[in-house]
Amino acid sequence: MKKQIIIDTDPGPDDGVAILTALGSPLIEVLGICAVAGNVPLPYTIRNVCKILELAERQEVRAFAGAEAPLTRPLFTAEYVHGKTGFDGYDLPEPTMPVQPQHAADFIVEEVMSRPPRTVTICALGPLTNMALALERDERIAGRIEQIVWMGGALSEGGNVMPAAEFNCYVDPEAAARVLSSGAPVVMMPLDVTHKAHVTADRIQRFRSIGNKVGPIFAELLTYAKQFDWEKYGADRAPMHDPTTVVWLLRPELFSGRQVNVEIETVSPLTTGMTIIDWWGVTDRRKNAYVVRDIDAEGFYDVIFESFRRFP
Ligand code: BDR
Ligand code: CA
Repeated sequence: MKKQIIIDTDPGPDDGVAILTALGSPLIEVLGICAVAGNVPLPYTIRNVCKILELAERQEVRAFAGAEAPLTRPLFTAEYVHGKTGFDGYDLPEPTMPVQPQHAADFIVEEVMSRPPRTVTICALGPLTNMALALERDERIAGRIEQIVWMGGALSEGGNVMPAAEFNCYVDPEAAARVLSSGAPVVMMPLDVTHKAHVTADRIQRFRSIGNKVGPIFAELLTYAKQFDWEKYGADRAPMHDPTTVVWLLRPELFSGRQVNVEIETVSPLTTGMTIIDWWGVTDRRKNAYVVRDIDAEGFYDVIFESFRRFP
């Protein structure tokens, strides 16, 4: 049976690559895509979800808008990386497909509760606000979700948006704390993994020469977003964050990690959004997440390109 997944996302090009990797795989059924405010505000993230679905000619997959802002904080965005629209770098046509009237959090609850237990996986590619709202609406979903695979946090890499915090966790730490304490099985893809899966000029060239419409468009989008990272990381390379979640579902043997305790800092002004990961088991706190630390980057890109090749 295909893996049934809901993608919760704030596109952003790396979110786009993750979505297309899932849509292009014959082993995955995407039940719906939920947009959340993150990289850019919600009106852009939901539009970008629809743009990707139309680019992939997959308008039958339903798109849902979710939270416009984090649970308790003002929204912090990343236009300085992805441009105003989140997809600066290539002008995709304005989408015409409808956005579903249901709130993303209600959709998540409905899908998880109406399907057999432990059959629905959530791929969370942005701040966890929609997931936290879904848990608030019906906490029973925690015991019914197969797994929540979240790109977020950092172990020893430090932060990418604050010295101690990764972007998705920093934007809505209260939501991350809510999800991690929910009892749902969580797999975490921190910066320690995504910083080992760089998109290089060679890999961008691989996108460009796929021989379809989708590949070169993503070569442009990634080139735009990565300019910022290339300056930041000082080399012809930048992390490819969000597709790690989808590739984990398809080829878990490409990754390694540990089941550990993860807590989220929500109070300290200096370290808000930091993931406190008990890698060495020095506490007896509940081991609430499988934290991935290593990745076979070549294998990872092979999976992405396998999916990309299936598009028009
Ligand atoms: C995360 O932040 C976003 O900018 C990326 O899409 C990714 O989800 C990395 O910190
Ligand atoms: Ca993202």
